[in-house]
Amino acid sequence: MKFFVDTAEIDEIRELNELGMVDGVTTNPSLIRKSGRDIIDVTREICDIVSGPVSAEVTATESEQMIAEGKKLAEIADNIAIKVPLTWDGLKACKALSDLGQMVNVTLCFSVNQALLAAKAGATFVSPFIGRLDDINLDGLDLIGDIRLIYDNYGYDTQILAASIRTVNHVTQSALIGADVMTAPPSVIKSLASHPLTDKGLAAFLSDIEQAGQKII
Ligand code: G3P
Repeated sequence: MKFFVDTAEIDEIRELNELGMVDGVTTNPSLIRKSGRDIIDVTREICDIVSGPVSAEVTATESEQMIAEGKKLAEIADNIAIKVPLTWDGLKACKALSDLGQMVNVTLCFSVNQALLAAKAGATFVSPFIGRLDDINLDGLDLIGDIRLIYDNYGYDTQILAASIRTVNHVTQSALIGADVMTAPPSVIKSLASHPLTDKGLAAFLSDIEQAGQKII
């Protein structure tokens, strides 16, 4: 499973990228706002760091304007994936931009039917939002599984990008189900390294070597 990092914070992207943890980056208008940076400037800086797909989201709601914004975002770098919302206008923009050879990430997907439409419109990625479905007492991971099954039934090559990931369990289950990509905040990616038995075992090893009075250097 590919790891995308869901942030517009340059330092965090750089740190994870140096460890080989970043296959791509996703941003959205809320993350841009949180960064306090200009959307074009910060997206360009991210593309200078990361060679994989960098999703940058349009802000228009009407297809022609989305296409114009998408073309402008695509000028930033070759690895831009233009992010459009899963609306009828977004699907029109997805088809037009995909036909031009641009990577397109169709976001805010909350149903299998929406995912089917994204695939038919030529999306490179579809982003089902797990956490936001969980927030309203539905099961976001069920949606990932259903999309996986249906895409495989018909051989769609749109990649399932599990998004709105809030927990390490979302990551595990997305991988078990077969999501192609997951995008998570840096804090969740770092949490994947944590295990209480690792901490307990390390504490015992450190105590034993100290009591043995030994040092390597
Ligand atoms: O990738 C989409 C993501 O940014 C949304 O996450 O936690 O705001 O639902 P969240």
